[in-house]
Amino acid sequence: MGRSTTGKRVLILGAAGALALAAGNLASPAPARAAADEKGVAFFEAKIRPILATNCVGCHGEEKQKGGLRLDTREHLIAGAKGDDKTEKVVEPGSPEKSKIIEAVEYKNEDTQMPPPKKNKATGKTDNMKLTDAQIADLKEWVKMGVPYGTAPVAAVKK
Ligand code: HEC
Repeated sequence: MGRSTTGKRVLILGAAGALALAAGNLASPAPARAAADEKGVAFFEAKIRPILATNCVGCHGEEKQKGGLRLDTREHLIAGAKGDDKTEKVVEPGSPEKSKIIEAVEYKNEDTQMPPPKKNKATGKTDNMKLTDAQIADLKEWVKMGVPYGTAPVAAVKK
């Protein structure tokens, strides 16, 4: 008898908790989320759009999709790199350490270093095209924020 009463109480508490959670979701967090979105978009516009426009979208945008990847809109970034038989994810929103896009800009994996090292015709040497530490830190922060984008697609800036 004691046992079944406890069981019921847990059930009731569980239902009440679920209701409270649902109510909470409807009521308070919406403005908080909107503020976070706004902050994310402002960060994107100030820090990330210029990096992508100057260093990435020339090869990963509307005109060219090297590696089957576009970075000019959030939808394309999330969709990933389209191969012949499979599509590879390049970002894990919230987790820079699990995101190929971050591994690529950190030049950690010799197979994928972005922007790619470039042969310099004048010197005959290969120039390291690695972004600055500050730019890489901003990209990591952006992935942590969940890769917010502004409304307009990123247009390539020709160098
Ligand atoms: C000069 C052209 C060029 C530029 C600029 C460039 N990429 Fe790439 N990218 C490539 C090519 C080619 C590939 C496919 C071959 C490879 O993986 O090395 C690629 C592949 C990738 C991949 C791996 C896709 C996969 O198959 O998983 C990522 C991620 C990536 N690029 C991100 C970036 C980012 C971020 C930037 C800007 C910081 C950038 N790229 C700039 C040419 C470029």
